[in-house]
Amino acid sequence: MFLAPNAEEATDFIERVMEKNELGPGGKRILVEETLEGQELSFIILTDGKSYAPLVPTRDHKRAFDGNTGPNTGGMGAYSTDDLLPEELRKIVISKIVEPTLRGLAADGVPYQGFLYIGLMLTKSGPQVLEFNCRLGDPETQAIAARIDFDLAEVLKDVADGKLDASELRWKSGASVCVVLASGGYPGKFESGKRIDGLTGLEQNSGVKILHAGTKREGNAVVTSGGRVVGVTASGSSLNGAVSTAYKACTKIRFDGMHYRKDIGAHGARLKAVGD
Ligand code: GLY
Repeated sequence: MFLAPNAEEATDFIERVMEKNELGPGGKRILVEETLEGQELSFIILTDGKSYAPLVPTRDHKRAFDGNTGPNTGGMGAYSTDDLLPEELRKIVISKIVEPTLRGLAADGVPYQGFLYIGLMLTKSGPQVLEFNCRLGDPETQAIAARIDFDLAEVLKDVADGKLDASELRWKSGASVCVVLASGGYPGKFESGKRIDGLTGLEQNSGVKILHAGTKREGNAVVTSGGRVVGVTASGSSLNGAVSTAYKACTKIRFDGMHYRKDIGAHGARLKAVGD
C-alpha cells in the first residue's frame, strides 16, 4: 500500500508501477482509495438484531513505536474516556453510521446478534468508516472491560434471547488504559521462550489487571510465546491517573527484548511520553 500525500506523488507512483513496471505483475492492477486523515476511534456496539447498545469508545494505537511511527501491529495499547466521543459527534455516528448499518442488515435479511466493531476515522469532514468487524477489538476490549459496571453474562444472555435493554449497560466514569508489552522485534521476527519476571503479586500490589496473550507455562516459569505478550490495564478517575498506574506496573515486568509504547493515552491526556 502506498499512502500518497498529494496528487503529484500519486501520479508518480502510478507511472512507476503501471508504466515502468517497478513492481512487476503486482503493479498491473491498482486500487485507488481516498486517504482518510484524522484520529481513529473504535466504536463497538452490542446488538440483539433489533435493539443495540454502544460500548464506551476506545482508541487503539496500531503503530509499533511512540508518536504513531513504525510498522502496523495488532495494537500496542488502547484507552477509553467518554471525551473520545463528544455528544455531537456521538449523535452523528449513531444516526449516520450505526442505525443505517443495522437497518441495512435487517433489510438484507442478515440477522446479526453480538458485538459489531466499527472502526472510524474522525476526519475534518466527519466520521468515516474504516472497517466493520463481527467481534470485539484487541486491545480495545481490555480498556472497555475495565469500565464495565454491569453483569456482562446477563447482558449477553439477553442478546442471545433478543431482549437487549441498553439501559442495563452501566459504565464506570473516568478512564482506562491498556499497555501491551511485546516481544523484541515484534511485529517483525521475534524469539519466544523468554522468561517473564515480575508478574507474581503485581495485580494485588498495583491495582492493574494483567491479561496474558503470548505466554505459556514452562515448569514453574511463565515464558513468552507470541508477539504481543501481556496487556497491562488500569482504570482511574482520570486518564492521567490510569496511565500513571499502568506504566508504573509495566516497569515491574521484565523479559528479554521486551518493548512497549510509552505514549498510550498521551494524546488524550496531553501527556508527554512517559520515560522508562
Ligand atoms: N485493535 C484492532 C482490532 O481489534 O481490529
